[in-house]
Amino acid sequence: MNALAHAAIDILKENDRGTYTVPTKGLYPFQWNWDSCLTALGQRHFDESRAWTEIETLLANQWPDGMVPHIVFHQPDDGYFPGPDIWATGRPVPTSGITQPAVAGFALRRLFEHAKDRAAAAKRVAALLPKVAAWHRWFYDTRDPAGEGLVAIIHPWESGRDNSIDWDRPFARVPTEGIAPYTRRDTQHADPEHRPTKEQYDRYLWLVEHFRGLGWDNRKLHDASPFRVVDPGFNAILIRSAADLAALAQEMGQFDIAGENQAFANRGVAAMERLWSDAHGQYLCYDRVAGELIDSRSIGGLLAAFAPIPTARAARIADTIAAQASRFGVASHAPDDPRFQAKRYWRGPAWLVVNYMIGDGLARAGLADAAEAITRTSLDLIRISGFAEYYDPHTGEPLGGGRFTWTAAMVLEFLAMEA
Ligand code: GLC
Repeated sequence: MNALAHAAIDILKENDRGTYTVPTKGLYPFQWNWDSCLTALGQRHFDESRAWTEIETLLANQWPDGMVPHIVFHQPDDGYFPGPDIWATGRPVPTSGITQPAVAGFALRRLFEHAKDRAAAAKRVAALLPKVAAWHRWFYDTRDPAGEGLVAIIHPWESGRDNSIDWDRPFARVPTEGIAPYTRRDTQHADPEHRPTKEQYDRYLWLVEHFRGLGWDNRKLHDASPFRVVDPGFNAILIRSAADLAALAQEMGQFDIAGENQAFANRGVAAMERLWSDAHGQYLCYDRVAGELIDSRSIGGLLAAFAPIPTARAARIADTIAAQASRFGVASHAPDDPRFQAKRYWRGPAWLVVNYMIGDGLARAGLADAAEAITRTSLDLIRISGFAEYYDPHTGEPLGGGRFTWTAAMVLEFLAMEA
């Protein structure tokens, strides 16, 4: 095993809290939903059983209605805001009240396919399948009430791309007044210039307080939210997970789950066509409140390649990425857009997790060269700058938190692909 793999494993072990892994010490001291599922893919390279545990812990905190929350607050920690008292969701182990990209179905299939201990893996996956299926059902019930085939996010944090340029217009509808005074913690751990702005934070919190006022009742939240956006990246992850869950369920003899999830995936892929922009060579977000596409060339529309979209669309996305004017791809926003910011979180920097999912999708579409280019540029970033949270796509400068869990997990996956 090479030095890079050893370094990655050290980080995963250092951030391991026994049954879950924190994204990084200080900045993010709890369990995050999509971080954990992607982290398990790294853990499988050195401790398969521990990888299953990571996802089991997350799903043990699923809500009765099927939602899997974006944060599980396993133990108190003052280092993060907003903590459990602000969310006040009333869960036995406190959690936030919103969700995150549904990558669990994909992660389960990948873990299962590569598992060395087949018998143990079959047992563990069989128990997890119905839980992920319930989460997918929850999505289409509560976040697609009109049956459009695509789900909306109701808070930017749900997308996992907290301050993307995609949200600027729809987010402007969210008030900034009337929220309780608060102190941010993130800016004490990372450079404020590389984080969301104060105004964005006010709006994040306004939404949290609004949803809390509605008792976190998911039958009400979608229609009551002034922010309802259909994100192609978010939907692509859900669609891919539904397709993967369908394949897994078929193999395990859970045929109802297989049929239901294949139908979600088919409907989703067809509906994604409405988000395609030929002018931009990528998909766009759709503002469900205003009833219009959002003209913003973010990585959300490239991440769509993770879903089984038509091959011609995937090929066009590969061209769009190749044409990006940055040394280290994939930039989280088109570098030639005047709104692009090379160092500010999801408004420009490159993130390894998204690289990984795009690369996987392109490889599946038969675009091996494009996928390899992403693997290469991702490992270049690590070799030059270490295991950061995100990177300046022009200079490769490491940004945000350090010794970052999912970055390390993705490195193990990229190295396995390169081998
Ligand atoms: C930030 C990221 C989000 C991630 C979380 C923990 O909020 O935007 O995607 O899940 O940090 O790493």
